[in-house]
Amino acid sequence: MSRPRADLCITHIGQLLRMDPAASAGDETGDPTAGLDLVLDAAVAVQGERIVWTGKQAELAQAVDTSSAEQLDAGGRVVMPGLIDCHTHAVFAGSRAQEFSRRVGGASYEEILAAGGGIHATVRATREASLDLLVASAKKRMRVFLGFGVTTVEVKSGYGLDCDTELKMLEAAAELNACQPIDIVPTFLGAHVVPREHARARTRYVDLVVEEMIPRVAERGLARFCDVFCDQGAFTLAEARRVLEAGLAHGLRPKIHTDQLSRSGGVELAVELGAASVDHLEHTSPEDASRLARAGIAAVLLPGATYFLGRHDFADGRMLADAGCKLAVSTDLNPGSCHSENLPLMLNMACLYNGIYPREALLGATRWAAEAVGLGQEIGSLSPGMLADVLVLTTRDYRNLIYHFGVPMTYALIKRGRAVVRPLDAP
Ligand code: NIG
Ligand code: FE
Repeated sequence: MSRPRADLCITHIGQLLRMDPAASAGDETGDPTAGLDLVLDAAVAVQGERIVWTGKQAELAQAVDTSSAEQLDAGGRVVMPGLIDCHTHAVFAGSRAQEFSRRVGGASYEEILAAGGGIHATVRATREASLDLLVASAKKRMRVFLGFGVTTVEVKSGYGLDCDTELKMLEAAAELNACQPIDIVPTFLGAHVVPREHARARTRYVDLVVEEMIPRVAERGLARFCDVFCDQGAFTLAEARRVLEAGLAHGLRPKIHTDQLSRSGGVELAVELGAASVDHLEHTSPEDASRLARAGIAAVLLPGATYFLGRHDFADGRMLADAGCKLAVSTDLNPGSCHSENLPLMLNMACLYNGIYPREALLGATRWAAEAVGLGQEIGSLSPGMLADVLVLTTRDYRNLIYHFGVPMTYALIKRGRAVVRPLDAP
């Protein structure tokens, strides 16, 4: 059998976390590394954009033709898949720093929204912003993501809430995808909240989303998913069904923000429609957790949103994990309820406040996050054929990514086979 040829080899890896592509969601064994597929003293070989081989360092030369390969010496450090942020609102204009101060002073997120601030304030700023400004500001956020080892980011619209601005946001996401290394997965979220001008005729707004926005977004291929915020103060279950069914009819797979503020029935709808993910889940019942697990739908924890809103009703990640859910963890990066690109910090919060184990959190930012964006066959695991999105940590103990919290731990980052963050101490 001929050896694959490599043009990049990552060598002398102390701990390689391959994230088993065949991992099942639950783990009955109690093994703290279950599903991580941990290999000591390892190497990874890459050709073009893809992984061609992973295994023991000692077997590299025999298994792979490395004669023309560039070498990245990991010096005993940890190597794992590039992180995936499967739920963000990273395209937006304006700042809500003043709203943050008001919240610290005692005003609630819901009060501010009801008085025309909150999401509505970001909508005003985003409508006024040029396409170039939206792209440039989001590009800066992507640079921050790279520093935290993130190689794929899902980005939602939802601060336009009129046809032109929703399209402008998705065009910005497409430009963003083309002008920097992180792969952007675009989601249409026209049904984020009812805009102020339709407050007295909300059905008219849902009609607009279903009859105008979705067909135009789909026709131009601007989104892969259709999301809806199904919760108290946002869209009802019946409205969410209309939106998601219209999206499906136009080839957009459903996603849903649900159970953040109260149990809303969104999980049953998501299961019925074959959603890619169900996100938030702060008030999800054990019955709904079992439904999600049986359906194999990714359940996305967003602990940063609970934290940043100063709330204490974190989603019961332990219950969801024990029910067998594929648990993903994400930042929810947005200007109102979680203004941070620090995905590793969210993993720390998921352990301490959602009650999941570090191994589950690590799978939640790789393997299950990949499924939440419909890319489980491409990213989130390091195995032959997968994209070479590879994170080299500054540490030799993978547990430090979560344990040493709040600091960047990116030593080097490879995106589609190319170094996008070079080793810190490289000449
Ligand atoms: O995911 N849930 C709704 N939307 C965002 C918040 C957006 C904002 O406040 O700007 C979220 O938490
Ligand atoms: Fe969100």
